[in-house]
Order: sequence, then C-alpha cells, then structure tokens
Amino acid sequence: MSTSAVRKAVIPVAGLGTRFLPVTKAMPKEMLPVVDKPAIQYVVEEAVSVGIDDILMITGRNKRALEDHFDRVPSLEATLEAKGDSKKLAAIQESNNLGDIHYVRQGDPKGLGHAVLCAERHVGNEPFAVLLGDDLIDERDELLSDMIRVQQATGGSVVALMEVPREQISAYGCADVTEVAGESYVQVHGLVEKPEPADAPSNLAIIGRYVLHPAVFEVLHHTEAGRGGEIQLTDALQTLARREGEGGGVYGVVFRGRRYDTGDKLSYLKAVVTLAVQRDEFGADLRSWLADFVANGAEAPSSHA
Ligand code: UTP
Repeated sequence: MSTSAVRKAVIPVAGLGTRFLPVTKAMPKEMLPVVDKPAIQYVVEEAVSVGIDDILMITGRNKRALEDHFDRVPSLEATLEAKGDSKKLAAIQESNNLGDIHYVRQGDPKGLGHAVLCAERHVGNEPFAVLLGDDLIDERDELLSDMIRVQQATGGSVVALMEVPREQISAYGCADVTEVAGESYVQVHGLVEKPEPADAPSNLAIIGRYVLHPAVFEVLHHTEAGRGGEIQLTDALQTLARREGEGGGVYGVVFRGRRYDTGDKLSYLKAVVTLAVQRDEFGADLRSWLADFVANGAEAPSSHA
C-alpha cells in the first residue's frame, strides 16, 4: 500500500544519451554503474523511499537491460544460496523488491515532453512524480517529499530548482520566479530551455525531479516541437505556469542538498568518486589512494597496483 499522497512515478529512460557515446550505443546511460549499482536503481530507491510504489519507466530500444535488472535471476540466486553467500544474494535481490515496475516504450525519442506523454494512460487523472534517471539526489537529503507537499498545498505542478553559476545555466532549463510570502517554495512565472547566460531570467536551473498535475498531458498533446526539434516538457510547464484555475500554476522547490549528475562523462566520474569515498568497505582506501595519486602528479602510484 502506498503511503504517499502521490502514488505513481514516471522515469523516462528512452533518451539517446549522445553525450555518453560510445558506451550508450547499446545500453542506456541510466544502466551505467555508480560504484556497484546502476544509476537507475538509486532513482527507483528514492521514489520508493517517499512511499511511491507504482513506477513506470519510459523505455526505448534499450528496454531489455533495465527489465532484467529489476527482475529475479533464479539461477544466480540458487548458486549464491548453495555457496551460502547471503551478502551477495541480498545485493542481487534488493532490486527485485522495489514496488511495481511497469514499462512502456517511447518508440521514437521525440523529447522529454513526449516521453512524459507516453505515461498518460498509466497515470490517469492524478498528480504524479517524474524522476530523471541520470540525476541522483543524495539519500540523506530531502527533495521529493517536499515537492509532494507543495503539490498538495498548491494543486499545481512543482519543479525542482538548483542555483548554478550563471555561465552554466545554458546546460539547463531556467526558471523566472518570485517568492511566495510565508512559504519555502517559489512561484514560477516562466521557463526557458537552455538559455544563453545573458538571456537567462535567473541562475535557477531545473533539475531532474517534477511533481506534475495531470493537466500537463492535455497541454503536451498541443505542444509543438521546440528547441532541438524535441517536444519539451519545459514548454508545456511554461503554458501551465500562465494558466489559472484547475491544474494551473507552477511552483519551485529550491534544492540546496547534494545532487550527482551522471548524464555526461565528467559529471559521471565525479559522481562515482564522491559516492565511492563514502563507502564503508573501501572508502578510506580509495581516499588515501586518491591523495597519493594527486600528490604524485596524477600518475598512478606504483606501489598500489
Ligand atoms: P537528456 O537530454 O538528458 O537525455 O534527457 P538524452 O537525450 O538521452 O541525452 P543526450 O543529451 O543525448 O546525451 C533527460 C531524460 O529524459 C529521457 C532521457 O533518457 C533522460 O533520462 N528522454 C529524453 C526520454 O526518455 N526520451 C526522449 O525522447 C528524450
């Protein structure tokens, strides 16, 4: 039974992942390992941690690896059981017990807005969360639960925002906002996809978490392809931001916690190192190796094979 006011999450994973080629030629970037779990597993765990128990993945031709990861592997389970390796057995079973996971295919990756529209039938007429599978939020920080509270309080749609240096804003959607008196969230008046820094209305970037009113589906049906020839979720939200009444209004929760982007090569490497040094099993060893590595002018220290 779901314990959340929002019961369903949509995770789009049908993008082409061109920033990460060639590894994304045959597998989705969301399956890349972040230490020892694919990025997507952290995202599913985040949804489950706030009480969401119905997850719909929007997949493309890469559906197989994802489905396999969240399914059981009886032969491997039997082998580990026979060996008495309960630790590894628990590690592989962890991803089988993460709520109800459903899959729908996007066919042609026509943009994030189009991917969300593919969820219309499954979601129906209730507010729902959207989590991007290459954006990780540290499990010690709250974001999604705050966003759900704001959606419930306002009845509109909610985006997650993060302050970024102005010169980086052209990599994100950007929000034009005003404070809401007495509240911790902001009202969004306008959204621009990947603006030039000089044209950006703020330094608030949209990051990969949304809690949306189902009115977004009807808007997406009428949203033309925008930047990059893709149907942009940002454009549909821009329409909702201007709408008054049922399903109108867009609000922002400004996230000040730890976020790890795994969608491009450099950010991914930073994410892996940051999360790996926090691990009990080998974090201390990795830290000392990294210190030697840096002290050694970024050459592998020869004493540590
Ligand atoms: P991105 O723009 O980050 O993903 O989309 P991409 O297009 O795969 O990446 P690059 O720029 O080519 O490297 C944000 C999210 O939306 C999904 C992606 O899988 C990613 O999780 N997406 C994007 C879809 O599911 N369908 C699309 O048509 C586009």
